Amino acid sequence: MLPNVLQPNTTDHVPVLADEVRALLALEPGHTLVDCTFGAGGHASLLALDLHGKGKVIAIDRDPTVRPYFERFRRTAGVTARFLRGDFSIILEQLADNGVRADAILLDLGVSSMQLDRPERGFSYATDAPLDMRMDPSAHYSARELVNEAEERELERIFRRYGEERFARQIARAIGRRRRQQPFERTSELVDTIKASIPAPARFGDGHPAKRVFQALRIVVNDELGALEAALPAAMEMLRPGGRVAVISFHSLEDRIVKHWFREQARGCTCPPEFPICVCGHEPELRVLTPRPVRPGARETALNPRSASARLRVSEKVGS
Ligand SMILES: C[S@@+](CC[C@H](N)C(=O)[O-])C[C@H]1O[C@@H](n2cnc3c(N)ncnc32)[C@H](O)[C@@H]1O
Repeated sequence: MLPNVLQPNTTDHVPVLADEVRALLALEPGHTLVDCTFGAGGHASLLALDLHGKGKVIAIDRDPTVRPYFERFRRTAGVTARFLRGDFSIILEQLADNGVRADAILLDLGVSSMQLDRPERGFSYATDAPLDMRMDPSAHYSARELVNEAEERELERIFRRYGEERFARQIARAIGRRRRQQPFERTSELVDTIKASIPAPARFGDGHPAKRVFQALRIVVNDELGALEAALPAAMEMLRPGGRVAVISFHSLEDRIVKHWFREQARGCTCPPEFPICVCGHEPELRVLTPRPVRPGARETALNPRSASARLRVSEKVGS
């Protein structure tokens, strides 16, 4: 059970690429914003300024501990605000099916600083805690189940694919050996196993030796890529013509999904190139506003090192 003691304070998550998101979403009074990843509400608070007291914010997050942040936002934002707890891919579909429409949709992917910095959530390799990593603490599947139950080959694949871990095989084997003696319960046990399974020089370069494995496990435990893939079409359906969707990703696989999906939706004719004239009549559904991803500048990364890998892509739904 998570202690519900979260009080908004100065260690709140710092919103990434906030000015860029604000400029590109270009909200106006009367608009509806759907913030799919509310977190501490940093982006929502800034974006709500552009509603000038007229408009609506629908805040989504699968983590129940963001509620105090939402309550603070609701008290101060001066616009109608509603919090929906759950997976954004499911909630967006439900909203779209119920005819709810949006002028701007934001997905700021990954974990928040509050999640990373609260040891009991088990996201961090830096402090000892139960091996958990669930963004939604009521979800059935945690990192503990994954590490103890997945086949070694599957763990190797996960570490390689989602963590780009070059010692994926050695680490997966060491996990297999360790759990045959005793199952993993805590983050420190996993960190020790990772450290012991890689060559000594690799323990010192390229960040913390457990960083990539922890990232990979977190992505799988929370099905982060699956949620993103399902959310994009639902977001598209919810958007009004002229409405905009912004996605901030922190992992190259996430960014690739967003880039390809935007590109696909922005395509007009889909006829084979050898056709002399278009017979498909396909029209673009999105206009890409960021041909290249927007990256944080040196100032932002110096002030907030966690922003370093962020990439922002924004598109606008076509139509009048
Ligand atoms: C990077 S933080 C967002 C921070 C926020 N933009 C701010 O300025 O405070 C990501 C948040 O999205 C939530 N989240 C991630 N994946 C989600 C999903 N599939 N459905 C709902 N919430 C999700 C996490 O629980 C976390 O609170």
